[in-house]
Amino acid sequence: MENKQYRAIIKSRSGQDIHIRLLSEIDLLALQTFNKNLSEKTRSQFLPHNYEERIVLKFIDRNKKNIDRIYVALSEDVIIGYFFLWDFIKPFPVLGIGISDSFQGQGLGKKMMGVLIEDAKANGNNGILLTTVLTNESAYQLYLKMGFKYLGDTDNIAGDGRLVRERMMYLPLKVGEVPAIHDFQPPVI
Ligand SMILES: CC(C)(COP(=O)(O)OP(=O)(O)OC[C@H]1O[C@@H](n2cnc3c(N)ncnc32)[C@H](O)[C@@H]1OP(=O)(O)O)[C@@H](O)C(=O)NCCC(=O)NCCS
Repeated sequence: MENKQYRAIIKSRSGQDIHIRLLSEIDLLALQTFNKNLSEKTRSQFLPHNYEERIVLKFIDRNKKNIDRIYVALSEDVIIGYFFLWDFIKPFPVLGIGISDSFQGQGLGKKMMGVLIEDAKANGNNGILLTTVLTNESAYQLYLKMGFKYLGDTDNIAGDGRLVRERMMYLPLKVGEVPAIHDFQPPVI
């Protein structure tokens, strides 16, 4: 069954309407294409999981069951953004966000993060966790701007199995709630 219900419509700085909706079965091929078309640089910064069919279908199932909260952002039916809160059912879900190269730097990252933060607040989460590679200065600046705090460095398992040194950050949403030690790796492998 098609799921075309939009969660939000956001505008890029150049005036384009970007539609945001939950990831579902209809997005399998388009999501694989989104990943394939990323530049090497962007993919080295954003490879949250392997995109083979078996894995993507598991994420779609987790999304349906509200275990994760996963969105796609579309420009004229092409996926140009993929962003999520993994383990949405836990006190501190893990945020990920990636935007295709030609849509970066247009204010969309901030707006997509706004959607996730709004969802986490409405869901009663204690806060949001994330990691970002040490060299990704623009993402780090974005997260600081959105209120995230630096927690220290950690080893994260990337989507291709590599162990990557990353900065850990978290956004507090409830006073006094601090995340416990967390092992960062994709929830589906
Ligand atoms: C990181 C990313 C999500 C940011 O989204 P975006 O839409 O490009 O960013 P925005 O236009 O909303 O900018 C938000 C802030 O990020 C920072 N930023 C964005 N692009 C930047 C750049 N090229 N250099 C430095 N800072 C930058 C700025 O602080 C900016 O705030 P400002 O608009 O007030 O100057 C996006 O660029 C992206 O997908 N990059 C590749 C994949 C990636 O790094 N994902 C994150 C993995 S942790």
